[in-house]
Amino acid sequence: MKIFIDTANLAEIREAHSWGVIDGVTTNPSLIAKEGRDFIATIHEIAELVDGPVSAEVVAQDAPTMIKEGLLLAKVHRNVVVKIPLTYEGLKACSALSKEGIRTNVTLCFQAAQALMAAKAGATYISPFIGRLDDLGVDGLQLIQSIVKIYANDPALKTNVLAASIRDPLHVVQVAEAGAHVATIPFKVLKQMVLHPMTDRGNEQFLKDWKTVPDQDIIGQTTRWLASRA
Ligand code: G3P
Repeated sequence: MKIFIDTANLAEIREAHSWGVIDGVTTNPSLIAKEGRDFIATIHEIAELVDGPVSAEVVAQDAPTMIKEGLLLAKVHRNVVVKIPLTYEGLKACSALSKEGIRTNVTLCFQAAQALMAAKAGATYISPFIGRLDDLGVDGLQLIQSIVKIYANDPALKTNVLAASIRDPLHVVQVAEAGAHVATIPFKVLKQMVLHPMTDRGNEQFLKDWKTVPDQDIIGQTTRWLASRA
């Protein structure tokens, strides 16, 4: 499963990317608004930083303007994927843009039937929002399982399942087990995915024990040892 980061914050993207774990980035109008910066400059900067799909969302609600926005967004950088809401007009725009060879991410998916429609319209990615379903007392994971099954049943459907609205590390593990192709994860959750108190405790113990080793300078000791054998 690929890991995308769900943010428009450059510092977060830069930090997570430096860990070597980021395959792409998703943004949405709310995430862009949160940063208070120019939309296009931000998308371009992100796409230069991460060499993978970077979702940039259209805001028009009618297909002709969505298509116009999408065609322009795709010109900003080769990594841009045009994000489109799952509406009648969005499907029209998705179909038109995919025929132009432009990658699309159809977003705000809350039921499996919507995912089938998006795939039929040629979506590159479908974004089911699992956290927002959980918030309503509906099992978000079940939606991912259902879409993965539907797509697997028809090899003609090439759409990737991009699990979105991820709230915690358990969500990530569950969608990976369910066969999602991508999970887009907020920075806070990515950080949680690295931490475990037993790791910290074990590390502290190793360092404490190391203090009893006579020569603790690994670099100096190794350099001298290598030189003596050269
Ligand atoms: O980017 C779309 C999605 O991941 C948003 O998640 O946390 O606003 O429900 P959230």
